Amino acid sequence: MNGVIIECTGGCCEMKSKRFPYPLPTIDRIITAVNITTEAIRQYWNDHIHDLEIARSPVGSAAFFQELATYRYNKLRYLPQQVDFTEFHGKKLLEIGCGVGIDMMRFAQAGAICTGIDLADTSIALAQQYAAHAGVTADFLLMDGEAMLFEDETFDVVYAHGVLQYAADPDAIIRESYRVLKPGGRLIAMVYNRVSWLPLMSALTRTSLEHDDAPAFGTFSIGEFQAMLSPFPTVEIVPERFPVATELHTGLKATLYNDIFVKGFNAIPRPLVRRFGWHLMGYATK
Ligand SMILES: C[S@@+](CC[C@H](N)C(=O)[O-])C[C@H]1O[C@@H](n2cnc3c(N)ncnc32)[C@H](O)[C@@H]1O
Repeated sequence: MNGVIIECTGGCCEMKSKRFPYPLPTIDRIITAVNITTEAIRQYWNDHIHDLEIARSPVGSAAFFQELATYRYNKLRYLPQQVDFTEFHGKKLLEIGCGVGIDMMRFAQAGAICTGIDLADTSIALAQQYAAHAGVTADFLLMDGEAMLFEDETFDVVYAHGVLQYAADPDAIIRESYRVLKPGGRLIAMVYNRVSWLPLMSALTRTSLEHDDAPAFGTFSIGEFQAMLSPFPTVEIVPERFPVATELHTGLKATLYNDIFVKGFNAIPRPLVRRFGWHLMGYATK
């Protein structure tokens, strides 16, 4: 794993892990959690399948899933480098908030015994179709990651990419992940970094952030994410997701963004800007 800037394996985390419940939420997180019902979140995600707007092929077709996967790993080109999808052959892997199952299919194709849960029925239905196209076996269940129906110590790996920041109670998902993981099991999770190039760009260009209209939407500092993961004795946080050229813009906007901003930003030595990556990848071991 490259570019680890925070590593916490010592006694401080063990001490924090005994302090349930978690550290007090920041104001940002209190606002996020007020008046949010699971039903509102489910409804939003039933109506807003992630990245759906980029697909040209009929929803649910094999070509549709291929388009979503191509788009995802071009935008998130760090992901297959940070997460070895082939590493979990024969291991029981749970994905929380699996969406249509793009990452999950990689784990399943490499032999992981996969279970995907999501609040949104449309996601689960599409993930089932994707598994059928891909010819893999995986269980998909409609379930709330904040109150899971699995026995304690069921899974070797829990994966939640881009989910905690859209949940009403992200701490509950961490708590549940800890519970359902076997001793020595691993949690891999991603949240958005509040102190990052993307919110700055978004403010300067007055464009909204992806799904910032969702009923629950949160960003986190590196310290907050680390505190959230503090039930786990071993935690690493790796900022990732730096600017990549996009085909979504055209004309002057494309020139300014792709040729000037993206190239300029990526010319800066990565160690100088790593802490401003938009995605905070969290790796925790129980
Ligand atoms: C931005 S999408 C990410 C989907 C997928 N992980 C990906 O990276 O493409 C967020 C997903 O989290 C799901 N979600 C939000 N809160 C959840 C919860 N408490 N339990 C299970 N899924 C949840 C939503 O339904 C939605 O499918």
